Amino acid sequence: MCGIVGFVGEENAAPILLSGLRRLEYRGYDSAGIAVCNKVVSVIKEKGRIDNLQEEVNKENPQGTVGIGHTRWATHGIPDKTNAHPHKSMNGIVTLVHNGIIENYLEIKNDLIAKGYKFKSQTDTEVIAALFENLFDGDALNTLIKTAEKLEGSYAVAMLIKGYEDKVFAMKKDSPLIVGKGTNANYLASDIPAILPYTRDCYIVNDGEFIEISKDEIKVYDENGTQKDCEIKTINMSINSAEKNGYDYFMAKEIFEQPKAVHDTVSPLIKNGKIVLPFEFPENFIKELKRIYIVACGSAYHIGMAAKYIIEDLARIPVTVDIASEFRYRNPIIEKGDLCIFVSQSGETADTLASLREAKKRGAFTLSIVNVLYSTIARESDGVIYTNAGAEIAVATTKAFSAQLGVSYILASYLAYEKGLINNEFLKKFTDEILCLPEKINTSFDCDKITKKLAEKIKNQEHIFFIGRGIDYPLCLEGSLKLKEISYIHCEGYGAGELKHGTISLIEEGTVVVAIATDDSLYSKMVSNIKEVHARGAYVIAVVKESTKGIEKIADEVIFIPETSRYLTPSLTVVPLQLLAYHTTVERGLDVDKPRNLAKSVTVE
Ligand code: M6R
Repeated sequence: MCGIVGFVGEENAAPILLSGLRRLEYRGYDSAGIAVCNKVVSVIKEKGRIDNLQEEVNKENPQGTVGIGHTRWATHGIPDKTNAHPHKSMNGIVTLVHNGIIENYLEIKNDLIAKGYKFKSQTDTEVIAALFENLFDGDALNTLIKTAEKLEGSYAVAMLIKGYEDKVFAMKKDSPLIVGKGTNANYLASDIPAILPYTRDCYIVNDGEFIEISKDEIKVYDENGTQKDCEIKTINMSINSAEKNGYDYFMAKEIFEQPKAVHDTVSPLIKNGKIVLPFEFPENFIKELKRIYIVACGSAYHIGMAAKYIIEDLARIPVTVDIASEFRYRNPIIEKGDLCIFVSQSGETADTLASLREAKKRGAFTLSIVNVLYSTIARESDGVIYTNAGAEIAVATTKAFSAQLGVSYILASYLAYEKGLINNEFLKKFTDEILCLPEKINTSFDCDKITKKLAEKIKNQEHIFFIGRGIDYPLCLEGSLKLKEISYIHCEGYGAGELKHGTISLIEEGTVVVAIATDDSLYSKMVSNIKEVHARGAYVIAVVKESTKGIEKIADEVIFIPETSRYLTPSLTVVPLQLLAYHTTVERGLDVDKPRNLAKSVTVE
């Protein structure tokens, strides 16, 4: 969603702000803008891509070594130039950019209108600028604190304030913000990749803190205006992760990075055939554990569904999987001693974060599986397992998904072992098999050719169905989401047994059905389901294990995946599904990495 950059230094700010915004493009946006201060503040903003903004910046060529920039993903007001950030207050006291949503903006807006304030945009953001100007007493920090006291909702705000022309100010609540410490320059950003070319030394801003940066100082204040220590962390993230490295799209690059993502995630967690977690559960916690919740959104929710099959089967602990936006409002039954697992690539998804806070409040032990270092979900959980997938840029998740699967296998076998349900020998064999996955994922890439050919065939379909049973069912949901979110073809994933309870009526001559059948114990059931749709005219693409015999007779096309333990097949099944989605989208001539209306990191509910 929206992205923020800020800069104070000795160089011209505009190119640095634009390069930072380009590095945040992956988050999804529909307008962008910058403000540069050189005694007065010039604001340049444009609808659409950063290239449009760049053109305007080239024309106006703003000079100044202090500035802020923003990519906006519209929430309040249409995506146009007026609603784009930065917003300058009526009398120019403050110019600001904002991520998040101000929930009480209408109340504040009406109050300010009654006092004679005139608004230009439909945004909630302009209200922050107006409120700040209205409360301004000549002291920037004091006014910031008073402004924050009146705001409800979430915000990360970066501001240029009249009278403080050599500084950028910021404040934050429930929306990520970092400060980058450079040499004769300091930076602000909503996400680490924005400032990676300049510095790796960062301060992660906490909720309720106020920031003042000049070119050689970073000051952090608490809610009372008292200065705090500013603990700088060095971020170990490869700058390459944010480059395409010769691929046409980030999604392609990230698909082919999966062996490394899985290896880098699972290998630190396995030592001599045993699982070593990077945190500790309270004493006797696992022995007494009665219930697990897994809470997440989108693809991360599909991870929860796959993990449920494995954890329940291996560790015999009941698992409830919830969509975070439902969990947070459904008054779930959570008690002390429950384990709540939160899965999130970004670590900033608003609903997942709110669910984590809810579970914590109710006394659960909270564990997160997160990709982005120091993200809010990671920092607020009792335990965290990082997926070391590297920065994921494409909106459609691929390598983070595979890394999360890796962690699910680790957790399931750890729980089973701790409960005494599997022995050393089983665990050793299982973890060895997990360690073989990167190599097997590599082999699965052999299906690149067939998925490309199939993409040409299916590119004009209006509807595609994915059917499977057991652990293949969550993979159907994932395959369907991946294809529909980027190709805009309507897709649905079904438990294959569920088809005849309604959906089979949609199957007609030529309807494409992807049938995933990797579980031997359910294979004969899947054969019946394939025959049922075939008899009604479906064009069936089967995804099966290499050892599967005779499938060519009942399916129109077959994609074979390498053999592995039946618990681990999702890691191999997902590869052809991702490639099918990727190639189909390329065939349709769409922007694979930035599908319409979507954002990489969903920081509003
Ligand atoms: O950052 P998160 O993992 O919390 O994001 C969750 C979903 O928004 C995400 O998985 C989304 O569904 C992807 N676009 C799927 O490719």
